[in-house]
Amino acid sequence: MSELNLILLGPPGAGKGTQAALLTEDFGLAHIATGDILRAAREEQTELGLLAKQYMDKGELVPDTVVIAVILERLGEDDARDGFLLDGFPRTIEQAGALGTELESHERRLTAVLLLDAADDLLVKRISGRRVCRKEGHVYHVDLDPPKHEGRCDIDGSELEQRADDSEETVRNRLVVYHAQTEPLIAYYEERGTLRRFDGTRSPTQVHAHIRATLATLRLEEDL
Ligand code: AP5
Repeated sequence: MSELNLILLGPPGAGKGTQAALLTEDFGLAHIATGDILRAAREEQTELGLLAKQYMDKGELVPDTVVIAVILERLGEDDARDGFLLDGFPRTIEQAGALGTELESHERRLTAVLLLDAADDLLVKRISGRRVCRKEGHVYHVDLDPPKHEGRCDIDGSELEQRADDSEETVRNRLVVYHAQTEPLIAYYEERGTLRRFDGTRSPTQVHAHIRATLATLRLEEDL
């Protein structure tokens, strides 16, 4: 069976991180989340992290050249050779072009681009209630998916915190940036026949089941 190479596409708060956690466990894929990589760099105060902070705090995209270099290097690591799940990349047509060229040069191809979508108002509500655990980044929502003990991660017991860019003002700007710079990727991947759409307003379990069913069908078609 060929490798599973997936992209999770969608606006902030659509549930990319939530689904990524489920899918990487299902299929043993390398989970490559640009936001997580950039946040880790910020935490360590590396050159990349200090640069990224200037953009992330305003809800703007980090420049293409920087992000492309980081992700292409990450894709070359051992754990990504048998399949990957990109979460938050590509976010511009330029990033998508660079990814396509890189995959082609290694005779690899995308299995599917999984688009999660929902209306802006719901996304703002989700993001403003999101809480993330300090240790491993496990994701919760104060109303929609609360932890068993308030303020503590169910999985590792670490403290839950709010992300620096999750204020309502910054989220609204992230949505503007998404519609202007990332949404064109929907038509881009639709033209290439790789786009699959999922209703991000459904529960995480329902979205997950729908994605799994779609991937199973894709794999069956591949084997025919
Ligand atoms: P990044 O970290 O990628 O953030 P994002 O794309 O804005 O997405 P989020 O992490 O906010 O949302 P999500 O879709 O993962 O939702 P989640 O599952 O957490 O990027 C941050 C920044 O980094 C960018 O603004 C930019 O500056 C920079 N950056 C990153 N990539 C870049 C790139 N390629 N190029 C340039 N710059 C880049 O869910 C949200 C909440 O909703 C949670 O509380 C969750 O519990 C809840 N929830 C999830 N699914 C459901 C559901 N189905 N029903 C009910 N609740 C749900």
